[in-house]
Amino acid sequence: MNLGLPDSGPPRFESLDAVRGGLAQVGYLADDSISGVVYLADRLSKPVLVEGPAGTGKTQLAKSVAELTGARLIRLQCYEGLDESKALYEWNYRKQLLRIQAGEHGKQEQEGPSWAELEEDIFSEDFLLARPLLEAIRATDPVVLLVDEVDRVELETEALLLEILSEYQVSIPELGTVRATQLPMVFLTSNNTRELSEALKRRCLYLHVDYPDLDREREIVRSRVPGISEELADQVARIVRSLRTLELRKAPSVSETLDWARTLVILGVETIDAAGARDTLHVLLKYQGDIERAAKELLSVS
Ligand SMILES: Nc1ncnc2c1ncn2[C@@H]1O[C@H](COP(=O)(O)OP(=O)(O)OP(=O)(O)O)[C@@H](O)[C@H]1O
Ligand SMILES: [Mg+2]
Repeated sequence: MNLGLPDSGPPRFESLDAVRGGLAQVGYLADDSISGVVYLADRLSKPVLVEGPAGTGKTQLAKSVAELTGARLIRLQCYEGLDESKALYEWNYRKQLLRIQAGEHGKQEQEGPSWAELEEDIFSEDFLLARPLLEAIRATDPVVLLVDEVDRVELETEALLLEILSEYQVSIPELGTVRATQLPMVFLTSNNTRELSEALKRRCLYLHVDYPDLDREREIVRSRVPGISEELADQVARIVRSLRTLELRKAPSVSETLDWARTLVILGVETIDAAGARDTLHVLLKYQGDIERAAKELLSVS
């Protein structure tokens, strides 16, 4: 069935192992489910919707896939109030106005363009400001499109996204339709602050990224924190893991684990135990209540 979609091109990855190994080479430690979904997304030419707690590597996954495939990363950072003009395209009003003024001036000199000429001119490519979605659609070089924190946009913008991700084309009334000549890899991330529409979910492959298991977190620390010993990386991962089992307002994320590990390296700490961890808990936890709760717990195990 021809859906009128652009050609997806040759597969980017030869095998599941190539995804996992390649990601590790660019410093992203994936588990089977992450590498499996990335592999399938490429084969099926589907966007990936990545959901999960804050700081678990959702954004980094898209960045790392771009790095691995040598693609340009185009990022649409979502926020409440994001609209078509910031997501898709808008006209450069200031430049248009200047052009009109220049035209009027010319008219007084008897040599200016007619209104029709002027109109055609100011609604041409030169006056268009392409925003990330349009930029990704008309790219001719390999790109990875990252729609970051999609749960922050209103339903209208979500519908726009859905339309773009279904058709890979954009209609600009004054210019015509821009069709993608290739299918980019697309990642949408969400912190699940609200439910996304069923239609958007249907369009995507779903990937839940949770906190890594002990081994993977240790490896993430080792790959991201230069100069850390194997022993310290292991201790850091173990302590963070035990803290996540407490009922905290905000459990430490991978980015906080990394900040903590870097802090310990800077402080010249070589090994850390539960008691020693208490002095630097503020790097891992961001609520006073959580810090007190964790300190009490660490004291009881040390
Ligand atoms: N699997 C991983 N391998 C390597 N680094 C990782 C991994 N997971 C997380 N990180 C690191 O953790 C940090 C946080 O990752 P990232 O910003 O992608 O999180 P996020 O899930 O997008 O968070 P948020 O929801 O707050 O946007 C980054 O510095 C990233 O490099
Ligand atoms: Mg993110």
